[in-house]
Amino acid sequence: MKLSALCLLLLTASICVANSRPGQTISFNQDWRFHLGDINNSQDVAFDDSQWRQLNLPHDWSIEGGFSESAPAGTGGGALPGGLGWYRKTFTVPLTTKGKLIFIEFDGVYRNSEVWINGHYLGKRPYGYSTFEYELTPYLVYGAKPNVIAVKVDNSQQPNSRWYSGSGIYRNVWLTVLDPVHVEHWGTYVTTPQVSERSATVVVKTKVDNRSKSAAPVDLTTIIQDTSGRALVQITDKGVAPKSQHAEVSQTLKVLAPVLWSDERPYVYKVISELRQRGRLVDRYETPLGIRTFRFDVEKGFFLNDKPVKIRGTCNHHDLGSLGAAVNTRAIERQLEILKAMGVNALRTSHNPPAPELLDLADKLGFIVMDEAFDVWKIQKTKFDYHLDWDEWHKRDLEDMVLRDRNHPSVIIWSIGNEVMEQWNKNPLGGTISRELVSIVRNLDRTRPITSACNGVSTDNKVITDGDQDLVGTNYHHAELPKFAAMFPGRPIIGTETNSSVHTRGSYAMPADVILRWPRKQEDILKLGPTYECSAYDNSTAPWGSAHEEHWQLVKAHDWFSGMFIWTGWDYLGEPTPFPWPAVSSYFGIIDRAGFPKDPYYFYESEWTNKPVLHLFPHWNWKQGEKVDVVAYFNNADEVELYLNGRSLGVKRKESDDMHVFWRVEFEPGILQALSRKNGQVVLSREVRTAEAPSKIVLTADRQTIKADGSDLSFVTVKVVDKNGTLVPAADNLINFEVVGPATIAGVDNGNQISHESFKANKRKAFHGLALAIIQAKSKAGRIVLRATSDKLAPASVVINAR
Ligand code: GAL
Repeated sequence: MKLSALCLLLLTASICVANSRPGQTISFNQDWRFHLGDINNSQDVAFDDSQWRQLNLPHDWSIEGGFSESAPAGTGGGALPGGLGWYRKTFTVPLTTKGKLIFIEFDGVYRNSEVWINGHYLGKRPYGYSTFEYELTPYLVYGAKPNVIAVKVDNSQQPNSRWYSGSGIYRNVWLTVLDPVHVEHWGTYVTTPQVSERSATVVVKTKVDNRSKSAAPVDLTTIIQDTSGRALVQITDKGVAPKSQHAEVSQTLKVLAPVLWSDERPYVYKVISELRQRGRLVDRYETPLGIRTFRFDVEKGFFLNDKPVKIRGTCNHHDLGSLGAAVNTRAIERQLEILKAMGVNALRTSHNPPAPELLDLADKLGFIVMDEAFDVWKIQKTKFDYHLDWDEWHKRDLEDMVLRDRNHPSVIIWSIGNEVMEQWNKNPLGGTISRELVSIVRNLDRTRPITSACNGVSTDNKVITDGDQDLVGTNYHHAELPKFAAMFPGRPIIGTETNSSVHTRGSYAMPADVILRWPRKQEDILKLGPTYECSAYDNSTAPWGSAHEEHWQLVKAHDWFSGMFIWTGWDYLGEPTPFPWPAVSSYFGIIDRAGFPKDPYYFYESEWTNKPVLHLFPHWNWKQGEKVDVVAYFNNADEVELYLNGRSLGVKRKESDDMHVFWRVEFEPGILQALSRKNGQVVLSREVRTAEAPSKIVLTADRQTIKADGSDLSFVTVKVVDKNGTLVPAADNLINFEVVGPATIAGVDNGNQISHESFKANKRKAFHGLALAIIQAKSKAGRIVLRATSDKLAPASVVINAR
């Protein structure tokens, strides 16, 4: 039995961002034992788990499994296995910790977790996306004797989700050691009731728990720090919690000349709460603070710090592609960085509370977040989904989301549901449940508007009309979008979910200028003889969807439509609309599952950023004489001229409200080049070349220096190119990977929605010329070499340093 001493962990564990007590909260992810399947008495201290697999959390067992057409989750759930699993961790607690209070916190366990400490049952948590904690103190043994935490995770009842959920303790686990006098769990609430350029009033409410037996009163000092760590202002209240009492202390501070938080300049202050007993520091709790104002105007849309800002959001599910649902901060950061570079300024955490790390990153990178609680209320969407837990748990789960997330400046909208079934047929339950949920949220936070995402965009929808919500949240119905304002007079409106375009990276079906709305029925799709690819021209959508340009034109034209959340930023596992098996993952992403942009990415980049953009597509490998549709997205220029092998094919300007230019070109091999010009001066030049046979591999690491912390990642892009270095668009060569040095391959992918290759492997086929290998550092510094080989291709390697 391997024991890990808490004292050692206290010294060595890296400080977390998500939790707010550096030094007192430590990672509890290391050295767990795992068994897939149920075994009697697994919760007992004496149970022998020596044969169980040893692993570190976060962990998702579904992603390690194989795809199967008969997987109970269905293709909607990603066609991967669910099941039941047990986790155990054995640890010692030093004698010096006696007298302290010890808590364990799970950021999220999918799903139906039950937890035991030393055989004592601590409780159950059905919802897989809630964060929860248990106090361990009364059941611990101290000194050399082992303590055992056991966690049973039951995701065997399937289907219970419309997308891939993952299974297991897939988020971080923390251990917190506290003095009897401490700030309560999620015990601060920071608001900024008054903000101007000259000053901001910051109100900090702190819940203090004094469980000590001594009579000494407790002093609370609250400090506001800027990003350099300088204390700007502080206040002390004395005697706030005499013994054995809870107290809520409200303090008001002023920040002069505040730097405002925005999507463009996400400035995050820190609020530090220090508790002292007889002058001794007993707790130090940190809370993020962003100073900003915002409002939703019925006529003019969203304003951030008094400036109109269109919400340019994407919806995203929580999986991290080949890493599955297992949380990794760098993988989330990469997802957000790629979205940010496209011009995205908002995220919707569809359709559940996110990992806390996502909100930390959203604060830091400047995203406006719509934090969403549920995909179902009382009425089911899938047989075993949350409706079974609704009556007992919805209040607690909703309250916990708000309590956990209400200090994040990025969180600007609460969503209490997505397309709930109660919205249909004038069902009065829609209004009743909505009002109950709204009052639960308002009870804890009145600083943010509440909405829900409704695809029943009509005055018959009681969720919208009787639900007491602040914002009308509309999903789809693009053709009627101009009428929404008249439909809901006097109410601000947001496109909670839009688009549902479907694309496969690198796949092009012509004509590019005719939109294919895929049929709803599978038999009609099968009649089309599907390739299981969807065109990456902006010409392919779900039956209820709209093309990117079509929809953005509408949103741009209506100021009162405060913005939109596109379904989706990234491809996710599961829900492979429009196709049945063998498709297993979504086509909705603007970015594929591996992180490679599809062409519409550059459409948004040209519309949503000020960076000079010129994107020319498709690739240039076609049949001689074939008519090929050529599209360019560009900005910061008046026109684009296209050349084929040096001959001009004409100059194009965007006509009326067009957001692209287009040519139909008779193919001949060679070089297709586009030049964008402003006032006659060339702004950018882009070209696509006809590729010859695949000849070599090119590797590019997104970061060549990573942290040797056992978690950090380098994402290595694999390109199959011809002898001249041109990407081969049809290349599907099998690439083998080998790592030398202190690292492992955490996942491989290529973005192919019908691939059934394992994500946890040292090989992957290229897909439309690209593949991805994710390198994960061990907890040891050193030089890592990733080598990629393939039959008939010249190999390549890349060096990554772990420090
Ligand atoms: C919406 C739903 C999403 C997703 C999407 C696919 O109706 O809210 O979860 O299913 O459709 O187009």
